[in-house]
Amino acid sequence: MVSPIQIPNDAPFTPEQRAWLGEFLAKFLASDSSAPVASGPSVPVTILYGSQTGTSEGLAKKLLKTLKKGNFEPEIQDMGSYDPARFPNEKNLLVITSTYGDGEPPDSAVALHGLLMSDAAPRLDGVSFSVLALGDSGYPDFCKCGIEFDTRLEALGGQRIFQRIDVDVDPDAPFAEWSKGVIAALSPNGSAAPAAGAAPSEPAETGYSKKNPFPSQVLKNYNLNQGGDKETHQIELSLTGSELSYEVGDALGVYPVNSASVVDEIIAALPFKAGEVPLPDGGETSLRDALIHHYDIGTLNKSIIQKWQQRSGSPFLRSLVEADDKKAWETFCWGRDLIDLVLDYPADFSDSEDFVSILKRLQPRLYSIASSPRAHEGEVHLCVSVVRYKSFGRQRGGVCSTFLADRMTDGVKPGVYVHSNKAFRLPENGETPVIMVGPGTGIAPFRAFLEERKVTGSKGRNWLFFGNPYRATDFLYEDELTGFVNDGTLQKLSLAWSRDQKEKIYVQHLMLQNGAELWAWLNDGAAFYVCGDASRMAKDVDQALHQIAQEHGKLSGDDAAAFIAQLKKEKRYLRDVY
Ligand SMILES: Cc1cc2nc3c(=O)[nH]c(=O)nc-3n(C[C@H](O)[C@H](O)[C@H](O)COP(=O)(O)OP(=O)(O)OC[C@H]3O[C@@H](n4cnc5c(N)ncnc54)[C@H](O)[C@@H]3O)c2cc1C
Ligand SMILES: NC(=O)c1ccc[n+]([C@@H]2O[C@H](COP(=O)([O-])OP(=O)(O)OC[C@H]3O[C@@H](n4cnc5c(N)ncnc54)[C@H](OP(=O)(O)O)[C@@H]3O)[C@@H](O)[C@H]2O)c1
Ligand SMILES: Cc1cc2nc3c(=O)[nH]c(=O)nc-3n(C[C@H](O)[C@H](O)[C@H](O)COP(=O)(O)O)c2cc1C
Repeated sequence: MVSPIQIPNDAPFTPEQRAWLGEFLAKFLASDSSAPVASGPSVPVTILYGSQTGTSEGLAKKLLKTLKKGNFEPEIQDMGSYDPARFPNEKNLLVITSTYGDGEPPDSAVALHGLLMSDAAPRLDGVSFSVLALGDSGYPDFCKCGIEFDTRLEALGGQRIFQRIDVDVDPDAPFAEWSKGVIAALSPNGSAAPAAGAAPSEPAETGYSKKNPFPSQVLKNYNLNQGGDKETHQIELSLTGSELSYEVGDALGVYPVNSASVVDEIIAALPFKAGEVPLPDGGETSLRDALIHHYDIGTLNKSIIQKWQQRSGSPFLRSLVEADDKKAWETFCWGRDLIDLVLDYPADFSDSEDFVSILKRLQPRLYSIASSPRAHEGEVHLCVSVVRYKSFGRQRGGVCSTFLADRMTDGVKPGVYVHSNKAFRLPENGETPVIMVGPGTGIAPFRAFLEERKVTGSKGRNWLFFGNPYRATDFLYEDELTGFVNDGTLQKLSLAWSRDQKEKIYVQHLMLQNGAELWAWLNDGAAFYVCGDASRMAKDVDQALHQIAQEHGKLSGDDAAAFIAQLKKEKRYLRDVY
């Protein structure tokens, strides 16, 4: 008999579903049965995943292991390398995909998604399918890519064998439910299903992980900017004693702690006496402790406003909810936090428990790792842009970046874990030339790449495009980068100071100025990396790359697009953008 796993109270399930899932998950994780329950011909299954930072890929691999324990013939395929000609011949297609950008597919899934949505898509009569859509309801286009796959597969004649499940950030419980559902649908009489609760063959997680973050000692924390408006912190943490390891290209997950003064302001304005409240993972604590450490009191989203409106009676919130207009939601949420609802739209909560029932759990933030483990043994470094802004008359701060910059005092040890990102790796062959475009904090993984290329004595040429507003104040890692130039690690350093002159100069402008040489590097087999702002910079850099392929490669628009799609397919165009 295994003890049920606690399903968080904020998970979108009824108490009965939570109890059932808790038991199922416990069995799922505890069993190490490896004997297939084989009877009859094995069931072919293709698991097709689209992943930007590895979560969908991890789930796809987990499912593969589980299916291998039953009478299935499972195969796993990355959308980036999947041959679409196979589509009509698939028997059972299980799609796991995240959504990125503004409701876009992950980079590796763009081409396949585009083809499937186009008139060139094949008919899929006879293909059984189901979709697990990963996303974050904080984004307006929640799970859009998974929803589009699900709708389109059906429109093309596919047969949905189990309902799509949309994952809101935390995949454990919904993934377990979906896995169970698809396995039952693929094997209606149970003959192919793995032994009850058969689990992936890897041992249960024992070390530090996302669920069990390592309390890391802060070694250094200082501002990399030399004055000026921007504030970018170098955070150096110790991994000693954690047994955590990472590769350059990985990210570090950090659990933030909310500002105690904002929490006190919220509590002072609430219409009830603060009491004990349940925690998202079970257990109880005071409302104050829960709001500081466990619940999200930061940026607003549609879901929380809908729940707030039901308790507030505000005509304005009511009209916002009823109109359900994407632009209106975005306008209202931008620059507002929970404190604005508390102060400006008083609501009727019966007690502390009722209040936290509408809040989501406080989520960790990811940061691209800025160090090579071979250059800084036992340490991990981050390069963090501190989010500070004033809106609606209030000075505000991003939860995690201000925690890292301001609130890691008095021996506070931030809880951290390594988020592996296999899709953002240096080329295996150290002789491959590398082009890196990383303005602002986008420099982070490239400091790590350069350290790694130096420590490992890689002979490949390196070219870095870096940019920030002013050379005098914002040249992050100036000494190190000029050191890399001087010792021959960095062959080219192209610097775009956007505000040192009247006209903006951005990294993509320098790419275009150096287009002939950049094109020559690509023809020499260079890998092209981009890190930093997703909403504007990464799109403009992508456009510049297309332009260079047309101008210097003498390619038509379509051929340039095909060339760049091919770069992606060969994993020579990789992005870590946020
Ligand atoms: C894979 C990955 C790697 C990353 N790497 C890095 C990295 O190396 N360095 C780094 O600094 N960040 C990085 N990030 C971003 C990082 O995870 C956090 O999103 C970032 O630090 C902000 O988090 P926060 O908790 O401080 O802000 P939050 O509390 O999450 O607040 C951010 C929100 O504040 C609001 N906001 C921000 N500015 C304004 C404004 N001017 N006016 C009104 N509202 C505003 C917006 O709603 C915004 O979404 C990465 C993200 C990912 C996914
Ligand atoms: N998801 C999140 O919650 C979150 C949190 C923090 C940061 N971010 C993103 O991460 C980025 C990194 O922040 P950062 O403070 O390190 O630097 P940044 O804001 O990206 O700025 C770095 C440099 O890029 C320039 N730039 C602006 N627009 C550009 C464009 N379209 N193309 C190329 N360069 C452009 C900036 O110039 P000017 O400023 O002079 O125009 C500046 O010189 C932020 O832009 C932000 O979008 C996201
Ligand atoms: C820059 C960025 C943009 C995102 N955009 C969306 C979005 O538009 N819609 C959504 O539902 N989720 C969005 N997400 C959340 C991801 O889909 C979610 O974190 C998912 O678990 C990532 O899975 P992956 O690691 O397999 O890519 C976004 C995440 C990031 C970092």
